[in-house]
Amino acid sequence: MKKTIALLLALILVLSLTACGPKKDAASSLNTTTPGVLTMATNAAFPPYEYMENGKIVGIDAEIAGAIAEKLGLELQIDDMEFDSITTAVQGGKADIGLAGMTVTEERKEAVDFTVSYATGVQVVIVTEDSAITSVDDLFAEGANHVIGVQRNTTGDLYTTWDLEDEGLATINRYSKGVDAVQALVTGKVDCVVIDNEPAKAFVASIGGLKILETEYVLEDYAAAMSKDKPELYEAVNKALQELIDDGTVQKIVDKYIPAE
Ligand code: ARG
Repeated sequence: MKKTIALLLALILVLSLTACGPKKDAASSLNTTTPGVLTMATNAAFPPYEYMENGKIVGIDAEIAGAIAEKLGLELQIDDMEFDSITTAVQGGKADIGLAGMTVTEERKEAVDFTVSYATGVQVVIVTEDSAITSVDDLFAEGANHVIGVQRNTTGDLYTTWDLEDEGLATINRYSKGVDAVQALVTGKVDCVVIDNEPAKAFVASIGGLKILETEYVLEDYAAAMSKDKPELYEAVNKALQELIDDGTVQKIVDKYIPAE
């Protein structure tokens, strides 16, 4: 008799535990694009944040998204696309989260909500080793007329367009990938490339004859872009990301890809 009661109690305990198992329930209540899946939109041509390795998208953002998905009990799926399609995908509900070394800007805030910032970036200038351009000031000099390569619709594009092209100080050549702009620099089609510092370092290291100017153009914050129409999903992702920042997980991921100098 005692044994039966004990068994019964154990059974009730097990049942009640599985009933309130946190992960699956939390996940199913989240209004993601595909049930049970966190769909991340990115542009996997931006090392070390996201890039292709053996046919797989890897990098800081991919790992951070993986950790967020795990916290929320979701499966991670990564969709690769043009950089300037990411906010549209998030806005239109085709993706749950845009994670792409994306800079928080006032203009983008009109289209999407940004989570807490998880990293900072710097817009830098890449030139050939023998370049006449020696500082950012040279780009702003009176009568300057450089051809500048950028990745389309990135902040490097936006800032150089506003600051230089609109002022008649430069011509901007826009490429679908940052590395294409760097190749154009190598072949002499552009005089310099304005791009984020970490991919700049990666490209300069893998392609010879180039250097990064020491003067920095703009400092910026990276965050994940999310739909304004899904406040619960936003809250859940933002909270998960904040926890991953607070417990040092994000730093650990960054350190893995960006060894301290
Ligand atoms: N930080 C820049 C921006 O937000 C460039 C980001 C490019 N990211 C990428 N995955 N290609 O505009």
